[in-house]
Amino acid sequence: MASALMKQLIESTEFIQSIYPHHPQIGIILGSGLGDAANEMMIESEIAYSKIPHFPVSTVQGHSGKMIFCESCGKKIVLMAGRFHFYEGYTPKQVTYPIRVMKMLGIHTLFISNAAGGVNEHFKVGDLMIIKDHIALFTINPLIGKNEDGLGTRFPDMSEPYDKLLIEKAKIAGEKFGYGLKEGVYAGVTGPSFETRAEYKLLKAVGGDAVGMSTVQEVITAQHAGLKVFAVSVITDLGIREEDNTITHEEVLMAGKEAGPKLINLFKEMIAVV
Ligand code: HPA
Repeated sequence: MASALMKQLIESTEFIQSIYPHHPQIGIILGSGLGDAANEMMIESEIAYSKIPHFPVSTVQGHSGKMIFCESCGKKIVLMAGRFHFYEGYTPKQVTYPIRVMKMLGIHTLFISNAAGGVNEHFKVGDLMIIKDHIALFTINPLIGKNEDGLGTRFPDMSEPYDKLLIEKAKIAGEKFGYGLKEGVYAGVTGPSFETRAEYKLLKAVGGDAVGMSTVQEVITAQHAGLKVFAVSVITDLGIREEDNTITHEEVLMAGKEAGPKLINLFKEMIAVV
């Protein structure tokens, strides 16, 4: 008998397919301030999260909260403009619910973007960092609880959560555009408060290059679902600076907006080659 979660996933998927009867191959999640990037693609259809049965609803300013179906390079794409964060009060299962739905819709590859604080002292605001690995710091694993064998294995391997081949392709695209892409480890925290000076130092000491409040739970779920993942952080502030260490959400949104076109160019280039 199908579990309650499976039934909900099927209902969400069937609802979406009643409006958009195609099977996207690639999923994209756009982070803070990056929602406008969707306008760079050929949009076919849009569905507000609030219309989709069992979907959580985004509450953060700067997240428009809709699934956008588009096409680029002849490939069908489902794009999430707005994501669900643990700090908003959603459970890890709710945070990762859309990943499950995108998998059911048919995607094999997931592109993720996020806004992140720079921890590596060589980073500057506006840099794009390819995520090569992550560290979950105090974020709850979304797979805790009874395993849904129909969705994935009990103990998923996490030795290569970010697909090496996609990273290589991104580097080639980055060279072509002259983006000076950075590469590093993303430290995932719960937020919503930004880090203290001492915490930024801790993050650096444990090997983090950037820090953010999303992505890790999504990537764990994507691995569980057998999806290939490529993820990029937009460095929106420098946590490691000594003098003026204040950060505001507005700053983060602004830096995200400015870096958006670069990010979407990179994604579009990669869509052509996956
Ligand atoms: N810390 C955590 N999350 C963030 C940051 C930060 O400095 N910047 C953007 N998201």
